Amino acid sequence: MRILVTGGAGYIGSHTVLSLQQAGHEVVVIDNLVNSSAESLRRVAELSGTPAVFHRADLVDESAVDAVFAGHAIDAVIHFAGLKAVGESVREPLHYYYNNLVGTLNLLRVMDRRGVRSIVFSSSATVYGEHNPVPYLEKMEIGANNPYGRTKEQVEDILADLGAADSRWQIALLRYFNPVGAHPSGRIGEDPQGVPNNLVPFIAQVAVGRREKLMVFGGDYDTPDGTCQRDYIHVVDLADGHVAALDHITGRPGVYRWNLGSGKGSSVLEVLRAFEKAAGKRIPYEITGRRSGDLPAFWADASSALADLSWSTTRTVDQMCEDHWRWQKNNPQGY
Ligand code: NAD
Ligand code: UD1
Repeated sequence: MRILVTGGAGYIGSHTVLSLQQAGHEVVVIDNLVNSSAESLRRVAELSGTPAVFHRADLVDESAVDAVFAGHAIDAVIHFAGLKAVGESVREPLHYYYNNLVGTLNLLRVMDRRGVRSIVFSSSATVYGEHNPVPYLEKMEIGANNPYGRTKEQVEDILADLGAADSRWQIALLRYFNPVGAHPSGRIGEDPQGVPNNLVPFIAQVAVGRREKLMVFGGDYDTPDGTCQRDYIHVVDLADGHVAALDHITGRPGVYRWNLGSGKGSSVLEVLRAFEKAAGKRIPYEITGRRSGDLPAFWADASSALADLSWSTTRTVDQMCEDHWRWQKNNPQGY
């Protein structure tokens, strides 16, 4: 198939472009590079041997999106493009709602007009909010607790309404847990701008000498070692999950929801130790106060993706750290 990947120059997008090409698909990318660099796609081409077609365009510009569809016979879309920093979304809600909702609405309107009714959407475990027991199951009621998460929830609602109104749509809502790691080549990986918000990119920058020490946000949670537990998933497993979801929905109209996680929680200190092992060095840290909005522990019930997609994670936290470290060590300043 010819797949349009929005946000394909980004962290998860670039790994998914590679997985799609390796599975035999042709790829067209739209990205405005607001949080990425076209260098990622150049390196993906080096790994796959086939360049993806790249359009630098903004999804909030509907005519630009339409022009891309006019130029290529697109069969399906994987929609990653969006802003994703929770704290920034609290400070700049209009910016987040505008980018993530208007961008998605433009994309869907163009798809509908041009008869492309197959989409895989990047949702997040954050939609489960604060009140659900772990492990999270797809059938639970959702309710995010920050503007970023609400954009994910609202796009899920829009897509569910669309699927209900028009039975031709094939829609996958993928709820990612905590993506980390990098392609094992060390050529592509996560390249956060400014101070990393997420745990593993921060640890990696301490390990490579760009930051002094990790601040562990809270050591007094009701968990085995007092630090929060999350469900970390290797980005290559996550990318392969998109290929599996796309295969599954093709020819099967409906709205599907799948958790993409390992089904297992790891604590901050466990991840820190795994990274130390991978990097072969001690990583200085200090336990400080809790980060507001953090939940003590959550992980996926990953059984639906296994049953429906025959997909499950295959890479361990040790492999995530080894691959993340190889990327960071070889590219200390990112791209
Ligand atoms: P990323 O920032 O690396 O990738 C997103 C890409 O979208 C970037 O390349 C950015 O330039 C592009 N983009 C943003 N707004 C755009 C617009 N209006 N038009 C065109 N391009 C635009 O982030 P990522 O980690 O690869 O995340 C991909 C998707 O997965 C996002 O939707 C994110 O919310 C979701 N997600 C990520 C995580 C995570 O921890 N990384 C977890 C759950 C869900
Ligand atoms: C974050 C987002 C969430 C998103 C998820 C996956 C917030 C509040 N939530 O959650 O919406 O779906 O990423 O991308 O940003 N930690 C430290 N020190 C650090 C960084 C993190 O101790 O410098 C801890 C956190 O307190 C947390 C764990 O490490 O316990 C993981 O943090 P992070 O990588 O930000 O992921 P989430 O908290 O799951």
